[in-house]
Amino acid sequence: MKVIQVKNAQEGGKQAFAILKEEMAKGITTLGLATGSTPETLYQEMVKSDLDFSDMTSVNLDEYVGLSGENPQSYRYFMNDRLFLHKPFKETFVPNGKANDLDAECIRYNQIIADHPIDLQVLGIGRNGHIGFNEPGTSFAVETHVVALTESTIEANKRYFESIEEVPTHALSMGIASILKSKQIILMAFGREKAAAVAKMIEGSVTEQLPASVLQTHKNVVVIIDEAAASELTNA
Ligand code: PGA
Repeated sequence: MKVIQVKNAQEGGKQAFAILKEEMAKGITTLGLATGSTPETLYQEMVKSDLDFSDMTSVNLDEYVGLSGENPQSYRYFMNDRLFLHKPFKETFVPNGKANDLDAECIRYNQIIADHPIDLQVLGIGRNGHIGFNEPGTSFAVETHVVALTESTIEANKRYFESIEEVPTHALSMGIASILKSKQIILMAFGREKAAAVAKMIEGSVTEQLPASVLQTHKNVVVIIDEAAASELTNA
């Protein structure tokens, strides 16, 4: 893992964008994208850039079960709002949270990933070390799956909803095995509340109890963290 420490999220977004730009110049075609507050500064850089994404494909990590793309809390809506409406892509994929048959949707999404191998995957990290919605205890072997969200994740995500009761309890998420297939991964983390998870991800043992620790086994990972998120690292 290569660790880049930055002052704040703005600078982190610029660093991530610089890597993305360099990789696009080399001809990458498929981005794995994430939602949440972490990648917002990267998306801002993409939107204000003069880069053209109209030949690019994106494959998103996850979506809430039960929310349609018109729902402002859905991840499809988030992606359209923050990025795709400003910078059109050739094709954009997000799991369908309204699918009647969720198992069939997982199979469909695995096929999408197989047909569009991800060159560069953008990740955030949860306070409990999750990546995508792969919560602690998730097998590293799973591909796209239906996830019951943990209390910690529901609590963290309630800020986007009017009340905690409205936060969906389940999601569809690419699995760890899907994420590890990406050729390159950029994980960003900003803020004190991520510090413990970041320290365990980088310096702890590789364990399913801290899903992001699996990234120690991937050969091309860049971690971009601000000072607060780096504050529990012993070797910082
Ligand atoms: P955040 O979420 O970017 O909103 O902090 C990250 C995550 O939970 O993966």
